[in-house]
Amino acid sequence: MKNGQNNNKQALTMMIFGATGDLAHRKLLPALYHLIAQKQLPEETTVVAIGRRKLSDEDYRQQARDSIAEFSRTGVDQEQIDGFLSKLVYHPMEFIKEPDSYQPFREHLEQIEGNYTQPPIRLFFLAVAPEFFGVIVKHLAQQRLVERNNPNHRVMIEKPFGSDLESARALNASISRDLDEKQVYRIDHYLGKEMIRNILALRFGNSLFEPLWNHHYIDNIQITAAETLGVEGRGAYYEQAGILKDMLQNHLLQMLALITMEPPADLMPESIRDEKVKALRALRRYVPQGACAGIALGQYARATVDGKTIPGYREEEEVSPDSTTPTYIALRASVDNFRWGGVPIYIRAGKRMDKRRTQIVIEFKRLPGVNFYTEFKDEPPNLLVIEVQPKEGMYFQINAKRPGNDFLIDQVEMNYAQSSRFQGNVPEAYEQLILEAFRSNSSLFTRWDELEQSWLFVESVEKMCHPESGHYPTYPALSRGPKRADQMLEEEGRTWREIDLPTEK
Ligand code: BG6
Repeated sequence: MKNGQNNNKQALTMMIFGATGDLAHRKLLPALYHLIAQKQLPEETTVVAIGRRKLSDEDYRQQARDSIAEFSRTGVDQEQIDGFLSKLVYHPMEFIKEPDSYQPFREHLEQIEGNYTQPPIRLFFLAVAPEFFGVIVKHLAQQRLVERNNPNHRVMIEKPFGSDLESARALNASISRDLDEKQVYRIDHYLGKEMIRNILALRFGNSLFEPLWNHHYIDNIQITAAETLGVEGRGAYYEQAGILKDMLQNHLLQMLALITMEPPADLMPESIRDEKVKALRALRRYVPQGACAGIALGQYARATVDGKTIPGYREEEEVSPDSTTPTYIALRASVDNFRWGGVPIYIRAGKRMDKRRTQIVIEFKRLPGVNFYTEFKDEPPNLLVIEVQPKEGMYFQINAKRPGNDFLIDQVEMNYAQSSRFQGNVPEAYEQLILEAFRSNSSLFTRWDELEQSWLFVESVEKMCHPESGHYPTYPALSRGPKRADQMLEEEGRTWREIDLPTEK
């Protein structure tokens, strides 16, 4: 698991379908720029940008130069960017409407790869609308640009993988005709985030936590992903996705799986994914009787904050004025196995919240308060906090004696702020994802059975608790979300933990 410069004796052809789109410009090009600048990818790397627009190599390179300057996490170095652009070519083609365009594409590729001295890995990144995933894979296979079972031919697929269980199954059946599961890298960009990768290190690289990681010592787990942004011009997509499919089905359940899974036999991708899928399978489905009491849904409504009016969800472009799509969810989940029986796992996510914060909190049990320890009974519990963003770090809250003559207890924290230790050196999720796909480390990608289990869970929520059945509140934009989410925890004698990590000195 140690990283370093690339020693791989292979060349790389990295192809981006949808190269003129937002994802390519904001994330993929800057990520590739950094990977190449840091020599993480082979010297013999070519990035082939594929788009429907008719642009020359030079036009596209200029656009890439501008986007990298705008979106790179460190700014750009002239020499490095020139080096990167010299490896970038543009290939215009009508990849949906004109199946015949795949033949000249293959010839172009063969010409590029003919210049390598090492055998190439072909990595296709599908940064296109989801309805095109299956079609592109089919055409790639027909032209033998990808060959089934060839481990050097890999396809990275953006989310959403299907819009429900049925369509996800159909898409999977379609791509499985041409690709083996090991060649498919389904993206959940949260798995590339530093602190989420850190969960494995925290749980299995320390002797301290694992013995306590169960229902004997843990009272509850909280997973929060709050955003201040709204739907940002993606109203049409969001109308059919909503918070359940946009965040819960993928990012939140992936965090839950990593936190609750059993220790894998080793750190090989399939061992990790085997354990994740078991945790997801143990996730209790919602059944009709009273299930929705443990769920709060909501939709953001127009609000004026600091003199500025923020439109409500129903006023967003391409959103129906009487939409019932939820933009917020809080729920109480249970992983029904011996380790977690009885431990509530509270999950919440929302758009247009008052604060951007993705945080996982493990709340340990309180002291029993017996014998001469009674005075400690009401002390706050120990909390282990993993902050994924905006800060990246970990925080452990413990009770300690306040200095002085009296024996008074205070809460103090042991704090690790990643950015103060590794300034400017933290790669972004897409850098990690592309690099790990190149290294064929599929543990950062979701396997089909994980996805299927996630869809089964989300569909149980959707079918049982959808707002059409008549209940759900709005919440003012840029607020804490629906009150019901707070009440849910109060009824169980708990509160949402919202930890502000100490400011770095
Ligand atoms: C995406 C969702 O998958 O994740 C977006 O489609 C959401 O709606 C985004 O805003 C959040 O990602 P991040 O990295 O900003 O937390």
